[in-house]
Amino acid sequence: MDVREALYTTRAMRRVRPDPIPAEVQARILDAAIRAPSGGNAQGWRFLLIDDPAVKAQLGPLYRDSIATLWQTAYAERLDLARAAPGDPDSVSLLKVQASAQHLADHFEAVPLFLAAFSRGDPTGGSIFPAVWSAQLAARAEGVGSSLTSVLGIFHGAEANHILGVPADHGWAMNCLVSFGYPTGRWGIAPRRPVHEVAYRNTWGTEVGFTADKPLWSAAS
Ligand SMILES: Cc1cc2nc3c(=O)[nH]c(=O)nc-3n(C[C@H](O)[C@H](O)[C@H](O)COP(=O)(O)O)c2cc1C
Repeated sequence: MDVREALYTTRAMRRVRPDPIPAEVQARILDAAIRAPSGGNAQGWRFLLIDDPAVKAQLGPLYRDSIATLWQTAYAERLDLARAAPGDPDSVSLLKVQASAQHLADHFEAVPLFLAAFSRGDPTGGSIFPAVWSAQLAARAEGVGSSLTSVLGIFHGAEANHILGVPADHGWAMNCLVSFGYPTGRWGIAPRRPVHEVAYRNTWGTEVGFTADKPLWSAAS
């Protein structure tokens, strides 16, 4: 697959089939992921694949509680506003993300594979997320959808680590949990604010010097 196609079409694919992901596909995804950069090439990371139904059954209720907490806290105000103006494009977008994220939570145990990414000595996560995104891009090239999630580590990190047998007092923190599965829907270009609205040149606020009202890659290009 062309790298640009992977870059433009890798997006949160939370609706997936329960079909298992073959071990050799998992190996290619993870082996690509660990080529990613880390500060000083420290590779202070560990990756834990989760496909055991018994483990997923323990994590599922914690995940659902985490997402419920997210809606009731950080997202509460935005969701209230969106529900009050459901026709507004921003509301439509937010309510879609919420429905999709809730679907993942509601079907957590049916997701065939999760990847928990851990780091230590990396409070910003700057050295783990390149590898995580590489895993998602590599999965895209295999036709496997993924979604990065952070709520479990945020709201129930200690309990999740205990379930997963993460050694205590060694400094390992779960940075994220990525779901993987063959998507039920179609791949498409991730909609985003145009680049010229979020990029400047030389000084803050100065136009970047190009505009791109439409994505600069398409399936036909
Ligand atoms: C740091 C980070 C944390 C995220 N946490 C969650 C999460 O806890 N649950 C979830 O369903 N999606 C989570 N996401 C996925 C985002 O909601 C998703 O990437 C975003 O809505 C864009 O989706 P799209 O690429 O399909 O347009 C997270 C993404 C990032 C980058």
